[in-house]
Amino acid sequence: MACQENGNLPDHQNWPCPGLLFSEAIRELHATIANDWDSVKQSACQTAAGRALWKHVVHDPLAELFAGETYLKSLYEKIKKDRLNNAREVSGVILAVRTLWFESKLEAAVNSFGGGAQVVLLGAGMDTRAYRLECLKQCDVYEIDFPEVMQMKDTLLKAAMESIDDASQLTLTAKSLKRIAADIRDEDWFKQLQASGFIPEKNTVWILEGIIYYLPHSQAMEVLKTIANHCSITQTVLLGDFMNKQSTTLSATNFHFYSDWPEHLLPTLGFSDVTLSQIGDPDADYGLFHDPLNLFNRLRGLPRSIQNHPDDGTPCCRLYLVQASGSPKNQTISRNGSS
Ligand SMILES: C[S@@+](CC[C@H](N)C(=O)[O-])C[C@H]1O[C@@H](n2cnc3c(N)ncnc32)[C@H](O)[C@@H]1O
Repeated sequence: MACQENGNLPDHQNWPCPGLLFSEAIRELHATIANDWDSVKQSACQTAAGRALWKHVVHDPLAELFAGETYLKSLYEKIKKDRLNNAREVSGVILAVRTLWFESKLEAAVNSFGGGAQVVLLGAGMDTRAYRLECLKQCDVYEIDFPEVMQMKDTLLKAAMESIDDASQLTLTAKSLKRIAADIRDEDWFKQLQASGFIPEKNTVWILEGIIYYLPHSQAMEVLKTIANHCSITQTVLLGDFMNKQSTTLSATNFHFYSDWPEHLLPTLGFSDVTLSQIGDPDADYGLFHDPLNLFNRLRGLPRSIQNHPDDGTPCCRLYLVQASGSPKNQTISRNGSS
């Protein structure tokens, strides 16, 4: 779903603000997240806040519950400031675009499998698609994240059951949902997934959204190889976002894995059909960029091999949205042409 008028975002006064109608139990759970979790786990709440604050384009009614007050307020203030200053890019826009891109590609992939498939979300965090996407009605969904995150998600949902008037939001839309508590840097996460009912030979959509760059290089490669080697590749669609090298400098402590050319990397693992989009490309725009001079358009205008912007020397931080599958079609090379 795009904004009603292309490029027209709500002004700062009309930006949909969070409801913040949390029970004491929910506040206490978010206090635990703030006090006990590291920043990698907390990133699950930050992305939920993005979906909650961009609710005029992203439909995720449970996002506020999972984001919590602190992240909602802080992003809301940033958005207000951006709108007041008529910033070229409004805070959270990357997340809104990324969410919409994954949802449209997920729906298309599930449809290509005839409506029934397994959907595995690695680093699922506070994702709520199993509760809200009609396209998952015949799908078995598997969410994988650290034990603390999976446990907290269950507990927040239970607390919400007791305090939300309209509990229909909490009803599962997917055919089934399993939460798997695992660290995907460990070797046995795939065995745990299988023990939960996942069948490698079946049609599967893998969602690697906001996760792969948190892993060290060797472990990220192991995860990608595990998917490629253990699953029937022609029955696999992988959707993932990849940072280029410069993007990892945005958080030296949290971001590790990068790929400047994912469309070259993935075929080395067996994927034969790879497409890549950049934020702002026709399939990753959604009418959310009101200023044609926005950062993403400037980046798209430069060859992808350029590491620093020629005008001001700033690093070219790119996020690539990538779809890969094993269908026997020819590999598709990216728009900004590397070959
Ligand atoms: C930025 S959040 C993204 C969450 C969700 N995919 C989304 O887009 O909203 C990153 C998530 O990856 C999880 N994560 C990071 N490293 C992980 C690992 N080694 N094993 C399992 N989960 C991990 C974090 O706990 C967090 O929930």
